[in-house]
Amino acid sequence: MDITARLRVLLGPEAVLSAPDDVAPYLVDHRRLYQGKTLAVCQPADVAGVSRLLAWCNEARIAVVPQGGNTGYCGGATPDESGQQLVLSLRRLNKVRAVDASGFSLTVEAGCLLAQVQAAAAEVQRLFPLSLGSEGSCQIGGNLATNAGGTSVLRYGMTRDLVLGLEVVLADGSVLSSLSPLRKDNTGYDLKGLFVGSEGTLGIITAACLKLFPADRSVATAWVAIADPQDAISLLGRLRAASGDRCSSFELVPQVALDLVLQHVPGTRSPDTVAAPWYLLVELTSPADDDLETLLNEALAAAIDSGLALDAVVAQNSTQRDNLWRLRESVPAAQRVVGHSLKHDISVPIAALPQFITAGSHLAHTLAPEGFLVGYGHVGDGNLHFNLSQRPGTDNAAFAAREPALKRAIHDLVASLGGSFSAEHGIGQLKVGELERYAPAAELLLMQRIKHSFDPNGILNPGKVLRAG
Ligand code: FAD
Ligand code: MLT
Ligand code: ZN
Repeated sequence: MDITARLRVLLGPEAVLSAPDDVAPYLVDHRRLYQGKTLAVCQPADVAGVSRLLAWCNEARIAVVPQGGNTGYCGGATPDESGQQLVLSLRRLNKVRAVDASGFSLTVEAGCLLAQVQAAAAEVQRLFPLSLGSEGSCQIGGNLATNAGGTSVLRYGMTRDLVLGLEVVLADGSVLSSLSPLRKDNTGYDLKGLFVGSEGTLGIITAACLKLFPADRSVATAWVAIADPQDAISLLGRLRAASGDRCSSFELVPQVALDLVLQHVPGTRSPDTVAAPWYLLVELTSPADDDLETLLNEALAAAIDSGLALDAVVAQNSTQRDNLWRLRESVPAAQRVVGHSLKHDISVPIAALPQFITAGSHLAHTLAPEGFLVGYGHVGDGNLHFNLSQRPGTDNAAFAAREPALKRAIHDLVASLGGSFSAEHGIGQLKVGELERYAPAAELLLMQRIKHSFDPNGILNPGKVLRAG
C-alpha cells in the first residue's frame, strides 16, 4: 500500500489531500519566500487522529510539518523541497470545547481562528486580549506555537502569558493532556511553557485552556502626531501614569507608512491631525465605566502644551476608532502592494529605541540605497518592524541583493543594544542561521538537547528553529 493509501486508512479518506491543486495552497508561505513539496496534506478531525498519525510517522520516520492559518512570517509551516514530508493541517480541530465565564477561562481546539476565540469570549462578556492584524486567518494553535505578540502586549503580555493549560500530541503519538484551568500549580517543570513558541518542533498543540479578562466597557483611541520617537517614549510613561496603567496599545506609524496605506488600501482616509514625521495610535481601555475619553483628551492636551505632541485626534465613535486601527493594521498589506520588503522584526530595551532608530536608519540608507525605510510597530513593547520597501524604478535584483549585509548590520546593532533579532515572529526556517549566530552557545546546546529528548527521531518540523540532524 502506498503512503497516501495508508494515511487514508489511518485517518479516513476525507482527511488526506494529495491532488496537486488541493495541496498547492499549503506549500507556499504567506510571504512567498519558500515553495515546498509534500507527500500529502493530512487534516485529522480530532486529537485521536493526530495521535494515530504521529505514532505512525514516528515508526516510519516520516517528517511532519504542522500548519495553522499559514500567516507566519518565517516559513515555519512550509515543508521542504524533498517531497518526503507531510503537512499536518489543524484546520478541522476547530471546536470551542468550554467557556467558563466565572472562572475566566476558555478551552479551545488549536484550529480555531483567533477571531473565533475572541468572539467566544465576547459572547460571555469576557475579553481574550490577543490581537493581531492576521486574526481573521491565523489559528490559536499557530499563535501558541509562535508565541505571537500583536497590539495588546503592553497590557496583557505575549500569547505565553495567556496560557493556563495545553493538550499536546508528542512525537510518538502519546497525548499530554494538561488542560487544567489552575492559576497556581507548582508541581515540577513547566512543560507546557516549552511548547509555546516551539514552532511545531517539540509537539503538536491540539487544544489550549486560555485566560480571559473582564470585557472592556470603556475605550478611548487617539491618533497623535509627534516630532520624534523620543517623544513617543516620554508620552508612553506619562500616559501609563495618568491613566492608572490603562494603556493597552501604543503603536508607532511613520508618515511614510501612512502614505503607503492611504495610497494603496481602498477606503482609508487621512486622520485629522497636522502632518508630522511620526504618529502614534494610542488606546486606553477599562472594564469599568470610566471616562477614558476625557482622561485621554486632557493627557494629550497637556502633552501638546509641553511640546511632547504636535497634534492629536480622539475617535468620537466606533467607526472612527475602526478607521484609525485600519490605518495601523493595513501597513503590512500596503507594503506588500509596493513589492518585496526587507523585514527586521526587532526589539530593544525601550529607552534604546531612539538610538536604534537613528543608527538603523543610517545603516538602511547607506547599505540599501534602492530601498526606503518603513519602520513601524509596537513601540510600547520596544518592538519595531524595521522594514524596507523598494523605491519605484530601482532594480529588483539589486534591492534583494542588499538583504544579507543589511540584515547583518541591523541585527549586530540590535545585539549591541541588548535587543532581539526576532521579537515576535519566531525563527521558522528563515532565521535559523541568526539564532545560531546570536544565541549564547550554552542556550543553543540546551535547545538541541531538549529537541532530541522530545523528538529523538527528528520527525517534528525538522530544520525549523534548529538545523536538522
Ligand atoms: P502558521 O503560519 O500556520 O504556523 C506558524 C508556526 O507554528 C509554524 O512553525 C507551524 O509549524 C507551527 N504551528 C502551527 N500550528 C501549530 C500547532 N497546532 N501545533 C504546533 N505547531 C504549530 N505576528 C505577531 O506576533 N504579531 C503581529 O502583530 C502580527 N501581525 C501580523 C499581521 C499580518 C497581516 C500577518 C499576515 C501576519 C502577522 N503576524 C503577526 C504573523 C502571524 O500571523 C503569527 O505568527 C501567527 O501566530 C501565526 O499563526 P498561524 O496559525 O498562521 O500559524
Ligand atoms: C504587524 O505588527 O503589523 C506585523 O507583525 C508586522 C508585519 O506584518 O510585518
Ligand atoms: Zn507586529
